Amino acid sequence: MELFEGIESRSSVRGFISKPVSQETIRKILNAANRSPSFKNSQPWEVAVVTGAKQAELSKIVYDLAASGVAGHSEMPYPKSYPDAIEERTKIHGAKRFEALGIGRDDAALREEMRLANFKFFNAPCTLFFFMDKSLGEWSTMDIGIFIQSVALAAHGLGLGTCMQASLANYPDAIRGCLNIPDSKKLMVGMSLGYPDEKAPLNSYHSARESIDTFTRWY
Ligand SMILES: Cc1cc2nc3c(=O)[nH]c(=O)nc-3n(C[C@H](O)[C@H](O)[C@H](O)COP(=O)(O)O)c2cc1C
Repeated sequence: MELFEGIESRSSVRGFISKPVSQETIRKILNAANRSPSFKNSQPWEVAVVTGAKQAELSKIVYDLAASGVAGHSEMPYPKSYPDAIEERTKIHGAKRFEALGIGRDDAALREEMRLANFKFFNAPCTLFFFMDKSLGEWSTMDIGIFIQSVALAAHGLGLGTCMQASLANYPDAIRGCLNIPDSKKLMVGMSLGYPDEKAPLNSYHSARESIDTFTRWY
């Protein structure tokens, strides 16, 4: 896939077929992403690749927490409020996604089902979790963001789909516990990875973007 085409055609995938992703393929993706730039070449990213029985065990743990209403707490703090224009985009995103799926504003049960699909990893055969050492700061967070987008693009280039999932980061203690990861590692975000199910209703929605003129100043 040509680079520009890959960048422009990637979108979040929220429904997968059951075909497993081979370890060879995952290694190829991580090797490509490992070429990502980082502050002083510090390469602060740490990745947990979770498949098979462990993935099923972990899904049950986080699903049960989310379904029973345990709010959880992300170690990546959410802002108390957003600037108006950004708040507006997040609202439009939510509304358009429900609209595309034909889910009504008052259909609390379907909305909840959609939220909980996060914790079934959208049926992906593989889930990645990205960690960094808690001693690190914002530059490393930036580095890992770059790394994660490289993972998404490399996967896309091989015909796979991804969905980055902040929702999974709400249960860091449970996830670290299940994966035997030390408490000194901050859970940044999760990512579902697999072959896209083109027929999955959740994949029918494609997000929009503002024009570059809304965020660019020219001098
Ligand atoms: C840091 C981050 C966290 C995200 N968390 C979630 C999530 O928990 N659940 C979800 O369905 N999508 C999640 N997304 C996907 C965004 O909703 C998506 O990237 C955005 O709407 C733009 O759509 P696109 O990725 O299809 O271009 C997340 C994306 C990012 C970058």
